[in-house]
Amino acid sequence: MARERLPARGCGDLRRCLLAAALLLGLRLCAELGRARPGVPAGSAPPGRAPRQPRLHLPSGPASGPPRGASRRQVTYVRSGRRAPPGGGGRGTPEPGCCAPRGRASRKGPRWHIDLQPWAGPSQSLEEEAVRFLRYISTPQIACAHMSTDGLVTGSSPIQKPWSVCLDDQFGLAHQIRSKQCRLYSLGLGSEDTHFEVSMANGGCEVHRFDPSVRSAHVLESQRLWHHRLSIDWRDPHPAVAAPKTHSSTRKLGTILNDFGHHKIDVLKADLESAEWKVLENLILEDILEQIGQLVFEIHLHWAGFEVSGSDSSAVRFWYSLLKELELKGFRLFHSYKDLSKPQLFLKRDSFNASSCYTLSWVNMRWK
Ligand SMILES: *[C@@H]1O[C@H](CO)[C@@H](O)[C@H](O)[C@H]1NC(C)=O
Repeated sequence: MARERLPARGCGDLRRCLLAAALLLGLRLCAELGRARPGVPAGSAPPGRAPRQPRLHLPSGPASGPPRGASRRQVTYVRSGRRAPPGGGGRGTPEPGCCAPRGRASRKGPRWHIDLQPWAGPSQSLEEEAVRFLRYISTPQIACAHMSTDGLVTGSSPIQKPWSVCLDDQFGLAHQIRSKQCRLYSLGLGSEDTHFEVSMANGGCEVHRFDPSVRSAHVLESQRLWHHRLSIDWRDPHPAVAAPKTHSSTRKLGTILNDFGHHKIDVLKADLESAEWKVLENLILEDILEQIGQLVFEIHLHWAGFEVSGSDSSAVRFWYSLLKELELKGFRLFHSYKDLSKPQLFLKRDSFNASSCYTLSWVNMRWK
């Protein structure tokens, strides 16, 4: 029937004709298969690929592809044809070969959400989530022999400082510092304490400190210490909002990297007062993490954080899932600092022997 619809004339272009013919042949094959499949006794055919199943390959000649109408028609056909055989073989396994819509599951596209880890326990209780999470953030995953706990001055202060980077040779940071190739980004919100940044700059790192409370847009304080009046968000400002303001002060880290022409950050330090969870999520979803060598994050646990919604137990599960994504991307926790000077509160509760504030340091094992 389809053949009758083929216009007898108007095929001046031979290539188009051949293309259409090939498509029609493919469609006929599909139809034949669709009809034949219900007859196959269930279970007789292996659930995987049937060897004699013919495949439809869209003609890929010098022409850019099938005519639009044809390709749309084909997709529609596939849908209806698939529904026709009731439960024909291999539920759940994608049917290979003929008629599979092409390019549907492109592997590398934008991600819109992180993968949540399973609940810590069957009751999905806060207790279970909290215990798992707190154990996780308190357990270093690798040892770091040369840890700088006070910028780059080691052993100068008896007080343990939270901001720790790992200077073991295998991780490359020490080498980057020696060759003056080191770059530190520091994300903050009005913090007065720039001890770590100053120390890293003096040690040889190019330091970019982002803080919305900085006096002017870009200030070079010393040879290697920049202050930028910018704050890091997990989304760029809406264009309609941003347009009237000539210099919007909020940006995603990926956007800043692009704007500055920076491809790598040796150390990313962040103290974002509960915005760290959404920022971390953004870094994961946009694959920014692979550009970062070491992460030093202050995390805040006295409440769920900006734009983290849901029950308390689901918030903790979300935090945990974020950190597991870090692990999946090759980051290993080498230092955990529990801040006993801050309120000892966990989601407004005085329980689990937890602090509201920890500083965690990770090293990217895939960093080159
Ligand atoms: C509570 O935390 C403190 C500080 O981390 C630790 O020294 C102490 O052993 C913990 N107490 C219990 C009961 O786990």
